[in-house]
Amino acid sequence: MIKKINEAVAFIKSRYKEQPSVGIVLGSGLGSFVNEIETEAEISYKDIPHFPESTVEGHSGKLIFGNLGGKKVVAMAGRFHYYEGYTTQEVVFPIRVLKYLGIQTLVISNAAGGLNTSYKVGDLMIIKDHISMLTINPLLGKNESEFGPRFPDMSEPYKNRLIEKAKKIATENNIVINEGVYVGVTGPTFETRSEYKMLHLLGGDAVGMSTVQEVIAAVHLGLPVFAMSVITDVGIRDDENKITHEEVLQAAREAEPKLTLIFKQLIAQL
Ligand code: HPA
Repeated sequence: MIKKINEAVAFIKSRYKEQPSVGIVLGSGLGSFVNEIETEAEISYKDIPHFPESTVEGHSGKLIFGNLGGKKVVAMAGRFHYYEGYTTQEVVFPIRVLKYLGIQTLVISNAAGGLNTSYKVGDLMIIKDHISMLTINPLLGKNESEFGPRFPDMSEPYKNRLIEKAKKIATENNIVINEGVYVGVTGPTFETRSEYKMLHLLGGDAVGMSTVQEVIAAVHLGLPVFAMSVITDVGIRDDENKITHEEVLQAAREAEPKLTLIFKQLIAQL
């Protein structure tokens, strides 16, 4: 694993010499955030040794390097989901590569279904904690002690100091923001009515098919994480239960400017 990461990192460094300090993962329908980056280099996933290739609609599949808010950043336009058939090791491979490229903070976005009954389509939710709902833990197997400990602490996977900064930015810009618990599921089916209800009863405020494995890998590596969901559907409501991927993408695109503003200012303040 370390050898593969080093090969991927060496290749990337041969194409882009600067060291990014912030890594950004963009969720479904949230890819136009990269337009905010003053781009210096782009590298397709398919060119990077050992990188899986993205298959899902709405994800373009490249690393974008450049300047944002006075920082050198690297953004993943397109991520790898377990439901696409990748192993957990593949899902978190890019996170490890970003860490070895030198990032000091990881900022993640995703599209998620609302479980909290007060949430509406287009709302933003800062993830304050997560529940892994049968998503396979990416740290199963022999521990790579160079990455981190065998039994990582998960008491603060989403850094409170970053959450506080983001909340302040939202308030200053009159953006209504929620804070809640993200439930990670494998998908690819959206939840049944009964599953939405169950996940809500278990303490979830939103549900989605990404993020949890990436965050576990980041915590293992000692990487501070900030993550935010765009609520793209509210399956918990009896009258609004039918969900399509197209609606999810559309809702994400519409809410994106708010998310973009918060990410941009947060990164500038890091
Ligand atoms: N469930 C799971 N994943 C999702 C949803 C949902 O309702 N919306 C967007 N991603």
